[in-house]
Amino acid sequence: MDTAYGPPGYRGLLHAPPIVIVFSLLASIGGVLFGYDQGVISGVLVMDNFAKTFPKLANDTTLKGWMVSVLTLGAMVGALINGPVSDRLSRRWSITLATTVFVVGSIIQAAAQNLPMIFVGRAIAGVSIGMLSMVVPLYLSEMAPPNLRGALVSLQQLGITLGIMVAFWIDYGTAYIGGNGENQSPAAWRLPLALQCIPAVILGVGTLFLPYSPRWLMLKDREEEALKTLARIRRVPENDWRLQRELLEIKAASIFDRETVAEKYAGVNSKFKIMVSQYTELFTDPHLNKRLLIACLLQIIQQFTGINAIIYYAPTIFQSIGLSGNSVDLLATGVVGIIDFLCTFPAIMFMDRWGRKGILLSGAVGMGVSQLIVATIYAVYQNSWAEHTSAGWACAVFIWLYIASFAYSIGCVNWIMPSELFPPANRAKAVGIAIGTNWLSNFIVGLITPRMLASIKFGTFYFFLAFCIILFVWVYFFVPETKGVRIEEMDKLFGGNQGELDVNRMEAIRQRNPEASDLSAFE
Ligand code: BGC
Repeated sequence: MDTAYGPPGYRGLLHAPPIVIVFSLLASIGGVLFGYDQGVISGVLVMDNFAKTFPKLANDTTLKGWMVSVLTLGAMVGALINGPVSDRLSRRWSITLATTVFVVGSIIQAAAQNLPMIFVGRAIAGVSIGMLSMVVPLYLSEMAPPNLRGALVSLQQLGITLGIMVAFWIDYGTAYIGGNGENQSPAAWRLPLALQCIPAVILGVGTLFLPYSPRWLMLKDREEEALKTLARIRRVPENDWRLQRELLEIKAASIFDRETVAEKYAGVNSKFKIMVSQYTELFTDPHLNKRLLIACLLQIIQQFTGINAIIYYAPTIFQSIGLSGNSVDLLATGVVGIIDFLCTFPAIMFMDRWGRKGILLSGAVGMGVSQLIVATIYAVYQNSWAEHTSAGWACAVFIWLYIASFAYSIGCVNWIMPSELFPPANRAKAVGIAIGTNWLSNFIVGLITPRMLASIKFGTFYFFLAFCIILFVWVYFFVPETKGVRIEEMDKLFGGNQGELDVNRMEAIRQRNPEASDLSAFE
């Protein structure tokens, strides 16, 4: 019997209850803040008035590099701490907390009078972006019906790419405030930094109206509220059998976790000790470890396919392939941003129809072929770009194709998979670790790319190609398909390797629930 609430893909989105679309769009503003704050700085860094205000920064490339990276380091910390925070405060309140931190960080940046203020402001904003980057996909995946989970979590990536794109064009426009060069007004860079408070406030206030995640409610033993929320967001009556079945699955998973904890940590009263053990389990329990490995490898590979090498250093790359002049900046960052944004749409429309694996595999091929062609053209024409402008343009086209292949595939899947793989008690912690890994890898790529471009030149693209190949092989052989699988049913995908004891316990929980046996008739 078909237990889905509706069709997958764009048809499902068209029929989704408006409340689902509203909370998803609102939560994905978290992605906009992420993309905007990450993207805004490259334009700000090259503004004359910014250089005049912070001459030390303008003349020191290492310091500049640190200023870009301090955000990613802050974000790593934010993603890691937000696991326990979002368990304790709820996903919803941790979004509000993160936006408050973000506004503080943005105001400090926009009002900066000296270098420490800029650094501290970016580090604070980084912490909040890290928090949001971990909790938004978690929240969306806990709220989404299985047939739309991929699409709705992909909205986070759409938000990120929208943020990157908008930041570029705002920088582009405000750079003219007061005129060029000496005349440029401080508003040219203060305004884009201050503007990011607007979406943050919208998100912060909007979150007050968001429902709690039913899975979090169940984790806190608030079953009645979980039922009401589910009925509201699925837009079906409370006695709808699909809803009852979903609630039971969520409940069973929650009881299962609680009983396992009670048994494993019998006599341990300290919540902190239990939390530490739950972190440790992620590394030591084979079935959890397997999931963590998938979630983290996905992040590392995503970053090492070279996305941020292009996002951060596009102007340098385009100049190095012989494309110079006024149009370079536009092409470099502007077009990259537009393609990244537009190509996220296919993911939203098809993620739940094609599945994660198919999308990752085709994305790996697209990214790999593009990197291969860019690297090879670069190697052949590296000393004669001036005479071969068309070779430079061909490289540009394949860089755009790389971006397109990234955007519809691993750009989105990396947010979806971690949040759907884990059982309730470990979920938020594991997602925090995975997204923390993303930020750490982002930091490393940001650090090594300029050096690689300067030393091994075209070899940089072969280096990124190697990770596209690794992605293909690894996904093909080792990553299971998670499309449409209920979060609570993920255990089955990992071979039920919680052991016979666990399986028996789950069965016993189902039996203890009178409704469960009725519902099994539908299976
Ligand atoms: C990555 C970011 C990247 C962005 C670009 C995200 O999925 O995690 O590091 O800047 O995509 O679209």
